Amino acid sequence: MITLIKVRDYDEASDKAFEVMKEYLKPGKVLGLATGSTPLGLYARMVFDHEENGTSYQEIRSFNLDEYVGLPITHPESYYAFMHRNLFDHIDIKEENAHVPSGLGEDLEGQARAYDEMIDETPVDIQLLGIGSDGHIAFNEPGTPFDSGTHVTDLAESTIKDNCRFFDNDISKVPTQAVTQGIGTIMKAKHILLIATGANKAKAVKDMLEGPVDEVCPASILQRHEDVTVIVDEAAAALLDK
Ligand code: GLP
Repeated sequence: MITLIKVRDYDEASDKAFEVMKEYLKPGKVLGLATGSTPLGLYARMVFDHEENGTSYQEIRSFNLDEYVGLPITHPESYYAFMHRNLFDHIDIKEENAHVPSGLGEDLEGQARAYDEMIDETPVDIQLLGIGSDGHIAFNEPGTPFDSGTHVTDLAESTIKDNCRFFDNDISKVPTQAVTQGIGTIMKAKHILLIATGANKAKAVKDMLEGPVDEVCPASILQRHEDVTVIVDEAAAALLDK
């Protein structure tokens, strides 16, 4: 079941997302974390809450959704670096408990399977998601099987263009592959929190919520999950029937 929360703008979306996330910032909880611009406001609120209220992450574990293939973790646009810069370096989560899939090494598919095994042993309590303008979740592009596990994938042309802004607007610098949790992996999370803001997400939001459940729109599978919260701002909600 999807609970839809409509807010005015990005700031309100981040406030609402923090309200939902706050319930999970407790010892023993397992967080599924995401990258992209969308969760930055939420991460800023988590850092503020840690500093002001002393909310501790010592007994919290996390699993990130995805990582580019071939970028060293020291590259500022690696998702490993992104997570440290925007969240992990500012809270007290233990390095060994903050998992980001690796996009480096000889046996990426083997590492991907091991990542899924870890998640099976440590089920995710709340999975945070953004959405791509083509309806992708994590890096599961249109056409990805709904039962997929963590795997290596080619990025869609539109995703490479969307992410160009993080690579000096130089398309040749954007990695063309990523390791991503599969849709099947994501669907195992007990609660899913998806945030979508801005006009370039409006079509994907409509397809996700009001379209058929179809691999053409990967996020549409969320209609089959039992506990999803979707937070949309006015611009992202613009094409919805209600
Ligand atoms: C990236 C990430 C996704 C993210 C999406 C949207 O490609 N792999 O996890 O949800 O793009 O990004 P943004 O939040 O910057 O719009």
